[in-house]
Amino acid sequence: MGNETLTITDNRTGRTYTIPLTNGNIRTMDLRQIRKDPDDFGVMGYDPAFMNTASCRSAITFIDGDKGILQYRGYPIDELAEKCSFLEVAYLLLNGELPNQGELQEWEGTIRHHTMIHETTKKFLEGFRYDAHPMSMLISTVAALSTVYHEARNVHDAKIRRLQMARLIAKMPTIAAYCYRHSLGFPYVYPDNDLSYTENFMNMLWKMVEPKYHANPIMAKALDVLFILHADHEQNCSANVMRSAGSSQADPYAATAAAAAALSGPLHGGANEEVLRMLDEIGSKDKVPAYVERVKKGDVKLMGFGHRVYKNYDPRARIIKWTADQVFQVTGRNQKLDIALELERIALEDEYFIKRKLYPNVDFYSGIIYQAMGFKPEVFTVLFAIPRTVGWLAQWEEMLNDNEQKIARPRQVYVGAAERHIPPKTNAALEPAAIGA
Ligand code: ACO
Repeated sequence: MGNETLTITDNRTGRTYTIPLTNGNIRTMDLRQIRKDPDDFGVMGYDPAFMNTASCRSAITFIDGDKGILQYRGYPIDELAEKCSFLEVAYLLLNGELPNQGELQEWEGTIRHHTMIHETTKKFLEGFRYDAHPMSMLISTVAALSTVYHEARNVHDAKIRRLQMARLIAKMPTIAAYCYRHSLGFPYVYPDNDLSYTENFMNMLWKMVEPKYHANPIMAKALDVLFILHADHEQNCSANVMRSAGSSQADPYAATAAAAAALSGPLHGGANEEVLRMLDEIGSKDKVPAYVERVKKGDVKLMGFGHRVYKNYDPRARIIKWTADQVFQVTGRNQKLDIALELERIALEDEYFIKRKLYPNVDFYSGIIYQAMGFKPEVFTVLFAIPRTVGWLAQWEEMLNDNEQKIARPRQVYVGAAERHIPPKTNAALEPAAIGA
């Protein structure tokens, strides 16, 4: 295994190179020795959108997209969703092992301790217009946290780093709930530290005049499971942004805001909001075949379908369907589920989707559950950002501790003009024709 190599012959020069394989992969830097002549820069890899380029070695999350496998630190996602709480899974992602009883208590206590946000941050939030998009508010408010915690810049100090990580995980639900209440014009609700992570989030979202909020246990469990499913997904678009922004040694609030910005796009975390809009546009089950025809013609995309790595059923979508059944027992069935199930049935039998291996992804059903729980579509991506903060932070710290990582700076293939020069200027304004002479 250690002696595996690749032999490359450069047909331009006839020279042969032996390139070592590590874990079955070449280092693209090894291609640079392949030169036409001594002045040549050497061969690079050209890979727009990282279709076949690993940017790091990671021990956090494993995905086998062909088999539909997702594991955090080696544990299958369905086992974690069934047997663990979100905060246990967060501990696992950040530390590599599940916590024992004492470690869990301490970890939960740490998170509880940091749930409040500074009053100036609350005032900052109040400055947003009543109709600001909740995800835009979240991105800006997370970035604004670095105005409060100046020591966060010391990204190489492990203790300081861990403190900011706890702050971010603890404050994300508070910021998210405040963004939600701001968009409804409701007063903000302070955290209640008697409650679990998810129950407290529900408290900050939905408490009105009652002296104590009591979360429905089925809904709290469902939200906890959704948080577990969304906690990490290896080198996705936003994790890559987190690592890339963090590689310049930007503080974790700035890097997390950058990652959240990447998440907000409709091709990534913003897809759950788009799925609901699509189901609204379709309107009823009988209109599904006509919509699928529009997708096949390329007029529209089937939102919540397709994935860069999953070429099989997204394992998270399976668990989400189960969670939906639990939630609908409390809320009653969301009528959009029938349209979604019909879309899935027709798409999975259709040659267009079969050929391209397009299956429902995590966002296809999550929006339907969130809507049944009482959320507006604008908030769906905010609900994604809360748990994904854990994944971003785990990826960020792994990057900082990796001796092989440096500032992320891709190469380019320049295709613009060759060197040229500005011709001497004639003063056209003084030409006789220009002054009407
Ligand atoms: N609807 C219709 N056709 C699709 C879809 C879709 N949702 N997704 C991919 N295709 C088609 C493409 O048009 C392409 O067809 P072609 O070969 O005829 O040109 C083929 O399938 C391959 O698609 P790519 O765009 O090359 O796949 P890529 O890996 O670049 O994109 C992505 C993945 C962005 C997720 C894409 O499938 C998509 O846009 N899906 C809808 C948005 C969505 O649900 N995003 C959430 C992803 S999960 C997450 O981020 C949490």
